[in-house]
Amino acid sequence: MTQQAATKILLGISGGIAAYKTPDLIRRLRERNAEVEVVMTRAAESFVTPLSLQAVCGRSVRSALLDPQAEAGMDHIELARWADHLLVAPASAHLLARLALGLADDLLTTLALATTAPVWLAPAMNHQMWLHPATQANVQLLSARGCVLLGPGSGSQACGEIGPGRMLEPLDIAERLLAPRPQCMAGRHVLITAGPTQEAIDPVRYIGNRSSGKMGYALAAAFTELGARVTLVSGPTALACPLGVERVSIESAGQLYEAVMQRVQTCSLFVATAAVADYRPQDVVATKIKKEASSLTLTLVRNPDILAEVAALPEAPFTVGFAAETDAVEQHAMEKLQAKGLDMIAANLVGAEHGGFGADDNALIVLWHAGRQVFPMMPKVRLGKELAKLIADRYAASLAN
Ligand code: C5P
Repeated sequence: MTQQAATKILLGISGGIAAYKTPDLIRRLRERNAEVEVVMTRAAESFVTPLSLQAVCGRSVRSALLDPQAEAGMDHIELARWADHLLVAPASAHLLARLALGLADDLLTTLALATTAPVWLAPAMNHQMWLHPATQANVQLLSARGCVLLGPGSGSQACGEIGPGRMLEPLDIAERLLAPRPQCMAGRHVLITAGPTQEAIDPVRYIGNRSSGKMGYALAAAFTELGARVTLVSGPTALACPLGVERVSIESAGQLYEAVMQRVQTCSLFVATAAVADYRPQDVVATKIKKEASSLTLTLVRNPDILAEVAALPEAPFTVGFAAETDAVEQHAMEKLQAKGLDMIAANLVGAEHGGFGADDNALIVLWHAGRQVFPMMPKVRLGKELAKLIADRYAASLAN
């Protein structure tokens, strides 16, 4: 039997009395096949010693941001990349406030900004501090950005008072974080389009767009985690292909069309996140166009609407489109859902001040015939996971009907 790869957990410990439980937490995580690297705030060192933590995690413990010795090994950016999860336990009121503000004034907060891994927070504090509007606003902001809250629990506190603010027990935290994820898409083939297309004008120039491909790549990774076999038909991007995903690289809308039509018969689900050019130059000039004339006219012809064609197939897969809009997002998305005969559509506002093209964060309104769900602004990696789960749920519901 092949051994499952260890889950890499970066454990951030901030200064609260519950820090005394962290050696036990590390043991619980390691028992569940996790590798743990520990980063402490200065205040945490008053509650638990680095030596105890080092003894249970088997690695040296870090707290300084610019420690030449530590940086000579795995530097802080490498450490941020290494982690599959960042778990902050205990997360004090002060630490939550620093995270909400995006401060990077010590190693832990710097790592929280530098990592793209999911962030899990196990708050621990006096109940009045937890219930204070400032803390509650910080927690809401962090949740909206995609952080997952573990607790706090309620009960008697170290200060002698009773109320909400107790850190969850180490076993509970370890089980929630490392619970096996449901493989609800096992045995299914998911076809995803992502990124921009490039429509050649001559051998050097093309018509392109600002799509980065981040949303499609995040969805490809998320569907793989849900157990699906994923094929990603991708326009030119700088992104690395997610682990376990089959990537088919294309440049033009015509190539995207061919790649999709060759594979669509075997897929259960089709998700079109690519920003496909609606038009292409009628003729591609064989040699570089010289700048001799004072103006240049290009005749453009329509590209096929791949998404609409897939949705119209007799044995169409469950079909999900995207709609990037600059105004009246929901209305335009609903019109597209109906006009293209889709099962679902995910719409987002694009423009200078919003997420969308190129940004790391995005917010979406997802519509289907009998409902809608709003996802607030959050990292695309996290949004990919949330959206994949929603699509998988709606797909399962469509099979049941
Ligand atoms: O109609 P509009 O281009 O706004 O629709 C966007 C959706 O349609 C996206 O899901 C995009 O991937 C898909 N699309 C497509 N083929 C095209 C144009 C858009 O699959 N030629």
